[in-house]
Amino acid sequence: MPQEQSGTPSSSPIRRKKLFIKTYGCQMNVYDSARMADVLAPLGYEPADQPDDADLVVLNTCHIREKAAEKVFSDLGRLRPMKSHRAGTSEPMLIAVAGCVAQAEGAALVRRAPYVDIVVGPQTTHRLPELIAKAHRSAKTVLDTDFPADTKFDHLPAPRADGPTAFLSIQEGCDKFCTFCVVPYTRGAEYSRPAKDILTEARGLVSGGVREITLLGQNVNAYHGDAKSGSGVWSLGRLARELADIGGLDRIRYTTSHPRDMDDDLIDAHATVPALMPYLHLPVQSGSDRILGAMNRGHTREAYYQIIDRLRSGRPDLALSSDFIVGFPGESDQDFADTMKLIEDIKFSQSFSFKYSPRPGTPAAESSDQITEDIKSARLAALQSLLSQQQKAFNLATVGQKLPVLLTGPGRHAGQMVGRSPYLQPVHLDAPTKHHGMIVMTEITAAISNSLSAVAVNAPPGPNPPSEKVNSH
Ligand code: 5AD
Ligand code: SF4
Repeated sequence: MPQEQSGTPSSSPIRRKKLFIKTYGCQMNVYDSARMADVLAPLGYEPADQPDDADLVVLNTCHIREKAAEKVFSDLGRLRPMKSHRAGTSEPMLIAVAGCVAQAEGAALVRRAPYVDIVVGPQTTHRLPELIAKAHRSAKTVLDTDFPADTKFDHLPAPRADGPTAFLSIQEGCDKFCTFCVVPYTRGAEYSRPAKDILTEARGLVSGGVREITLLGQNVNAYHGDAKSGSGVWSLGRLARELADIGGLDRIRYTTSHPRDMDDDLIDAHATVPALMPYLHLPVQSGSDRILGAMNRGHTREAYYQIIDRLRSGRPDLALSSDFIVGFPGESDQDFADTMKLIEDIKFSQSFSFKYSPRPGTPAAESSDQITEDIKSARLAALQSLLSQQQKAFNLATVGQKLPVLLTGPGRHAGQMVGRSPYLQPVHLDAPTKHHGMIVMTEITAAISNSLSAVAVNAPPGPNPPSEKVNSH
């Protein structure tokens, strides 16, 4: 057993322990993994690069498609001998499975991989310290897949800034019940954090050097948190305006959103809040009204076109991205052609696309109209080819433009740094490492597959976009 903590910190320092977290799936999971590391830090857990000699390995899992869920079991298979090797020594390895596979398959997971010590769902990660203590005392798997009445956010420590960009989770869960999706079952009902807590967390991040915050939620634009004053409710548009007033917070993004929740206020915020970056991930999933209906998306193809028109009339340079599912049960050639037509009409700067994967317990998985793997593969290839042409065209169109780039890390070559354009394109340019975290004005010189090359230029007299604060360099 690892040494239990004893005595006061001054009389007996906490033994340093190694923590390895592997994150699968979405940005919510990336955020949750960081929060798990935060909650374990006071227990002496420090990040490890490899699972081999970790005291605790956490797999923070994704259940959205079958492939993602199965990967967890193959990774567990690799961890098992490492754990056996350390069994009976003074430094055994604990294995925890967290996230959506833990939530959806809890008991089945314990049966299939009984050597897992802890199974913890996404809503109770703050209980990890007590679950670890229990696991040390018990030979059996400790399982916690509750949806507690009090939110985990009330129990997690405030996140620390780690670089110029940060995620901030403002909303969790989903009440939409798209017929293909496990999220309403694994993440539970929609919950919005109070605006006051979000503003406090954002200010803390900015004072630690963060300049760009991405607001996260499974249905982030369904946000309806308690107003800062405590009376009434704020929408995402209102929250974005308040966040934009935080000095030093230059860029705001949000993901993932739903067309049904693009309300007037949020559309207006895209036109009037310069800190709201001109890039929006607005999944449409399909361009066929018949399939959108069967998916229970609650909007038509025409409604999507109208939202995009309104957004672009207020912010003409808005870059768009989407998720697409091909091979949803019953999808005909015509339905798929409708999706291709929608892509041709809208033009996306980048996108994510998937073959439909039947998920246990979801309505679409029960349909007798499943599409063959061959058809799914052919449709996905055609769709991805079109999306990739559009991404290249979008990137090429920025060549010659002057764009402010937030420098986020070292580039591919010595003397280079990489950063983000307002449109979320990776941009490589020559810059000294001391410029990390600065927004520099650049001229885009080339588009290479999925990224851009640029040179730094002096900031023009007028800022671009309107309020972006560009560091001189
Ligand atoms: N099969 C394929 N893709 C799915 N997604 C969600 N559920 C499924 C599924 N069962 C995709 C959707 C969603 C993204 C996060 O994952 O496109 O927007
Ligand atoms: Fe899943 Fe649909 Fe909710 Fe998105 S809106 S999380 S796709 S159920």
